[in-house]
Amino acid sequence: MEGHAAPSNACRGSVVAHASLACVVGVIGTRAATSATFVSVPSTGATSLSTDNAGVLLRGTQSLQQLETRPSVAWAGQNMAILMSSLVAGGAVSMCRSSRRKTEQTSRTCVRQAADDEIRPRVPEGTPIVPHLGIRKRPRRNRRSEAARAMFTETRLTPDNFIMPVFVHDGVDDIPISSMPGISRLGVDTGLLREVEEARALGVRSVVIFPKTPDDLKTPVAEECYNPEGLAQRAIRNVKRAFPDVVVYTDIALDPYNSLGHDGIVRSDGVIMNDETIHQLCKQAVSQAEAGADYVSPSDMMDGRIGAIRDALDEAGFSNVGIMAYSAKYASAFYGPFREALDSNPSVAEGWQVPDNKSTYQQDPGNYKEALLEAQLDEEEGADILMVKPGMPYLDVIKGLHEQSNLPIAAYHVSGEYAMLKAAALNGWLDERKAVLEALLSIRRAGATVILTYYAKQAAQWLREDRSS
Ligand code: PBG
Repeated sequence: MEGHAAPSNACRGSVVAHASLACVVGVIGTRAATSATFVSVPSTGATSLSTDNAGVLLRGTQSLQQLETRPSVAWAGQNMAILMSSLVAGGAVSMCRSSRRKTEQTSRTCVRQAADDEIRPRVPEGTPIVPHLGIRKRPRRNRRSEAARAMFTETRLTPDNFIMPVFVHDGVDDIPISSMPGISRLGVDTGLLREVEEARALGVRSVVIFPKTPDDLKTPVAEECYNPEGLAQRAIRNVKRAFPDVVVYTDIALDPYNSLGHDGIVRSDGVIMNDETIHQLCKQAVSQAEAGADYVSPSDMMDGRIGAIRDALDEAGFSNVGIMAYSAKYASAFYGPFREALDSNPSVAEGWQVPDNKSTYQQDPGNYKEALLEAQLDEEEGADILMVKPGMPYLDVIKGLHEQSNLPIAAYHVSGEYAMLKAAALNGWLDERKAVLEALLSIRRAGATVILTYYAKQAAQWLREDRSS
């Protein structure tokens, strides 16, 4: 090994071996546990040690200090560390100093040292000896212990921030959704109440309701969306009656009720009609408020709908009902499983041009500033919460909204994100618990206060287990 001079300031601090030490150039018999061992060192050059190695070397402090007082004996280095650790492991350390064949460049040294009981760290053979790098700022200091890490954690997950999305249908059974293993359409009078009760017991006290409307109730203008006896309205009433403390969010958009599958009314040339759609959305919002919704959540992306819905709610006496605006909702492939769950894909109709995507109202995934604009408008129009959707692929957008606005930001960890994690977990490719909690944490860290996630219950359960362990 080459001896190398340390930088002039490198010897400060507790982790450096003294400057008079030189590098080990060779070790004879490093494996010897009890016998004398000889180390050759050059006598010139100063060597300081990196933090990682220094700890190891300093366990041989006595010998080093001894050596320090003997100018003719100067040795240090990785090989010594290996030597010492192997010797310690083998019992008594036996090194003695030899003045035999001492040259100007080298000396052979041996020091006897009793092994102590302490278990000493060892470095792998081949660990390089490097000069102290003069690094003063070492963020790793704040990560050294579990207690310190817990102290300095900036973001934590709690079930208080979760909203559990639920799919409801007009039957009694749970109907599994194949692209979302673990998630089912729930009976509006049965599974729904069971799920909400379980979630609530785990600390998830917010739910967002998505109805699976029977096909025969779907029309091109989606009148079913404001039927006071509609599935969504019954679901809201059921939850509020059974659990008045649970906060109920709803979805506002026409797609679950629209025979053409779009969030708005589709004209024959394929245009999604903005203002006419808003007329329906306002009726839908009031009807959901009448059923007991705490927040209505327009997910349709029509222009101006937040202001219109705010006015409609206020006029109907629901000024306490909040609006969680899907402000930056992207035209995303990650909604696939959701559309299967509700059977709400855009459809085809004779003599009607029905766009097969939602790109004239949902945002282009390449756009960021447009999200800021949408959010700004929603805020001006009276939104109480601004949402970004999907979640993890759009963390930059979450952060952007968080920085722009003083309103709480929500993020929707959508069906496709759930499906990806679930699929990998089921294949044994990911540690589901760790990956899911990390995904949700990253969304919180980016600036979302609220997370809508199909993992709400499961994550709450995991967090509870973490707390009690
Ligand atoms: C409908 C709506 C969608 C989602 C929430 N509300 C689907 C869509 O816009 O096509 C997606 C939720 C998810 O994928 O989990 N307006």
